[in-house]
Amino acid sequence: MKTKRQLGQTDIEVTPIGLGLMQLAGGLGFLKFMFRELSIDTITQIIKNALDGGINLFDTAEIYGNGSSEKSLTIALKTIGKPKSEIVIATKWHPFLRTAADIKKTINTRLHCLDGYKIDLYQVHFPYSLSSIEEVINQMADLVAEGKIKSIGVSNYSAKQMRQAYEVLLERGLPLASNQVHYSLFNRKIEKNGILETAKELGISIIAYSPLESGLLTGKFHDSNDPFTNAPFFRKTRLRSQLEKSRGLIQKLKEIAQNYNATPAQVALNWLINFHGETILAIPGASTAEQAQANAATMNFSLLPEELTQIDKVSRKF
Ligand SMILES: NC(=O)c1ccc[n+]([C@@H]2O[C@H](COP(=O)([O-])OP(=O)(O)OC[C@H]3O[C@@H](n4cnc5c(N)ncnc54)[C@H](OP(=O)(O)O)[C@@H]3O)[C@@H](O)[C@H]2O)c1
Repeated sequence: MKTKRQLGQTDIEVTPIGLGLMQLAGGLGFLKFMFRELSIDTITQIIKNALDGGINLFDTAEIYGNGSSEKSLTIALKTIGKPKSEIVIATKWHPFLRTAADIKKTINTRLHCLDGYKIDLYQVHFPYSLSSIEEVINQMADLVAEGKIKSIGVSNYSAKQMRQAYEVLLERGLPLASNQVHYSLFNRKIEKNGILETAKELGISIIAYSPLESGLLTGKFHDSNDPFTNAPFFRKTRLRSQLEKSRGLIQKLKEIAQNYNATPAQVALNWLINFHGETILAIPGASTAEQAQANAATMNFSLLPEELTQIDKVSRKF
């Protein structure tokens, strides 16, 4: 598989598998209900395995522990000593109860948390702020003009909102690089609500979050007699309701995984980054170094067209 892809219409090259870093803020704030706390040694090993596996895209956010995920990423990268030029950092501004003016007020805090690493992609985390999309996106464009960020993305934007952001940026001579949305073999809503179609038309990358459906698509819960004992509260409730519905899909992933000496998770991620050409990038999260290594290894093989089609058929109803 060709390893790197263009991020939207920018000149940034990213690997189709990135690493989601919400897990780095486990144990903090609302994330303590979803992820356990990770030591800085574990975090460093997770980042190292991702880099060693060829990943160059790291996705964090202000809201992940109020900058704690960004800081941990930076500490780990400095310990590992990977050149900054080989890493693409994506982070996000959180818009809740804030106006667009807050984007410029908080950018220096983001840069401080990243401690010398640049923001290659700055994303508006949600389309909900006290200002209009036009005002928000124009503030982001100002940051590019000031050299504080390299490119602009959005997250959780509908097709209509994405097009609006794209048009505001077009006036400023800038591309909208990406829309980060929930997309997996168990959640294919973006194929039906116009998001994927619009992204393809406008040359915007889709960054798929929760691509393993919080671990469901690894098949590990289906194989266990006592699947949810150690799962954190919020994830437990959701996963329990999804277990039976996803059993047929997991069976298909397992069957195809055998052809590559791979795992169902790797097949699920491989499908995601290949079924729609180069539009989809996926950012699975990892709470162990082994998971990061396994997810990066997804880039070492390519499913055959007939395998992509077989998986599509089993999962299309989701
Ligand atoms: N923009 C947004 O609004 C938004 C929303 C959600 C997420 N995100 C981003 O997307 C990233 C990924 O999403 P996510 O964490 O919700 O879901 P995910 O990537 O579908 O699932 C991650 C979880 O799956 C398990 N896992 C991952 N790789 C595994 C492997 N190889 N083998 C076994 N288990 C494995 C781990 O569970 P355990 O921890 O139980 O081991 C891990 O915490 C986040 O880190 C974040 O950067 C963005």
